[in-house]
Amino acid sequence: LTQGPLSGKKIVVTAGGNLEAIDPVRFIGNHSSGKMGCCFARAAAQMGAEVTLIYGNVSIALPQNDRIRLVKALSAKEMLQAVQAAFAQSDALIMAAAVSDWTPKTTADHKLKKQAGVDEFHLTLVKNPDILQTVAAGKRKTQVVIGFAAETNDLLANAQRKLDSKGADLIIANDVSSNAFGADSDQVTLLAKGQVPESWPRMSKQEVAERVLIRLAEKI
Ligand code: C5P
Repeated sequence: LTQGPLSGKKIVVTAGGNLEAIDPVRFIGNHSSGKMGCCFARAAAQMGAEVTLIYGNVSIALPQNDRIRLVKALSAKEMLQAVQAAFAQSDALIMAAAVSDWTPKTTADHKLKKQAGVDEFHLTLVKNPDILQTVAAGKRKTQVVIGFAAETNDLLANAQRKLDSKGADLIIANDVSSNAFGADSDQVTLLAKGQVPESWPRMSKQEVAERVLIRLAEKI
């Protein structure tokens, strides 16, 4: 392990979906399983890196490994803080979490009750920070930031826009209309600045992670 291609490197990985609280018992969430992020954390540790895995709501077992520090961050705001703290001392960030774009404008401090005769409930949502964009904007030149683009249409155009607008070094694009949530395999296309998009055959998420990390090892 001390000889691995990522030995001596510190890598931050995010996994899972955010939970945005409406009141103490309710939340807005999404179907992210956390599988891809956990595969990245496991593969990076196997390649010798020291990993910080920042996880939200996940539906699978988290990796248990001496080289993986686990940090829980349920809301997008908690996740941003955890990522910023860990990334400052790290070489790379892999944003595999399905960050919640929106959060309730206010969170009730008590359980909201039904009211007789009231048949509509209006919830106002406000934008969450973009973690990838925020972190990429303040990164050092030697740090590498990798993001994902899960799209149902216009995959490459949307992924290319994400690469530019978020300031990521690499975007891993996947078509979520053909890649089911929680699946073990994935068909991805890699986009990097100034390079022709590279479409990979379908393979396990663990193999996607390993192959991307080999690329990363060449950069950091
Ligand atoms: O814009 P979109 O959500 O499709 O972008 C996906 C990529 O951006 C993922 O890597 C995700 O982790 C990251 N992201 C983020 N903060 C947000 C939304 C997405 O870091 N608020």
